[in-house]
Amino acid sequence: MSPQGPTVQSTSPIGPLGIQAALEAKANPSITPRPKIFDEFALTDRVGLVSGGNRGLGLEIAIALAEAGARAIYCFDLPKEPSKEFKASQEYVGKLGNNSRLEYFSEDVRNQEQLWKKAEEIGDKEQRFDFCVAAAGILKSHTDCLEYPAQQFKDVLEVNTSGVLFTAQAAGRQMSRFGRGGSIILIASMSGSITNKDHAWVSYNSSKSAVLQMARSMACELGVKNIRVNSLSPGHIYTQMTAAYLDTQPHLLEKWSGLNPLGRIGRPDEMRGVVTWLASDASSFCTGSDIIVSGGHHSW
Ligand SMILES: NC(=O)c1ccc[n+]([C@@H]2O[C@H](COP(=O)([O-])OP(=O)(O)OC[C@H]3O[C@@H](n4cnc5c(N)ncnc54)[C@H](O)[C@@H]3O)[C@@H](O)[C@H]2O)c1
Repeated sequence: MSPQGPTVQSTSPIGPLGIQAALEAKANPSITPRPKIFDEFALTDRVGLVSGGNRGLGLEIAIALAEAGARAIYCFDLPKEPSKEFKASQEYVGKLGNNSRLEYFSEDVRNQEQLWKKAEEIGDKEQRFDFCVAAAGILKSHTDCLEYPAQQFKDVLEVNTSGVLFTAQAAGRQMSRFGRGGSIILIASMSGSITNKDHAWVSYNSSKSAVLQMARSMACELGVKNIRVNSLSPGHIYTQMTAAYLDTQPHLLEKWSGLNPLGRIGRPDEMRGVVTWLASDASSFCTGSDIIVSGGHHSW
């Protein structure tokens, strides 16, 4: 019996791995064993898009994917011109020496038609589409749930929920077109499954909760095409989004830090490993899951 069971339904593109590699090396002394674990995380020559990629978690994630070897990462965000952080990151990636590049496009994730069109243009140019990270999102200031204005609620859901769907669709349509599978990562939040004690952001929580179910639902439909869909749910991380709170109410840093077992808030770079894992073949059997990276906040 092979280590995979009586019937081999699939094999790793870089196999043999693990026990199988050990058995083959045992049987054939001319094979020189070498570590392969990091090869499984490699994104060599792959192409994808990151929404919200002008700054914060989106841009941090784009750099990680570039370091993992992706050929091109198309970053979509609202400003006509990219930020100075983006420009510095683009230059940095260009100097990594692994043929990776960051591209910037001013795109609004609320515009479904335009996103589909842009992704198709990318597909036409690159002739492949492998990963997508839907990271664009907004957080409005706390408003009492019984007073929450209709328009404000719609505004948040339009970006955080509809925009995430439109981004995933744009990429997924190209993945389907090229027929080689793909990985779609929807950035949700721990706020999709827990509620912050002092910040009951009813619109944000609702919008993120919908993303968790969106990932599961899309995963179930797209599994047959080997397009994997997972959500990634960060806890408190210092970015411009949370700076709006932390910089104006300094006591919140200590408070938020005390809400998880690690006793601190997270850094944007702490998304690098998990997102590379999700985008790569290292997570090839993971779909329909919500990966919570919160310093353990949700465990208490
Ligand atoms: N920072 C945290 O603590 C935290 C925690 C959990 C989840 N998240 C989620 O992570 C994602 C990234 O957040 P961040 O912390 O980097 O915040 P951020 O505000 O720095 O980045 C969000 C980006 O999304 C872009 N964006 C907003 N509306 C858009 C639209 N209509 N079209 C295109 N782009 C748009 C913004 O311009 C911005 O660049 C968000 O979805 C956020 O909800 C953040």
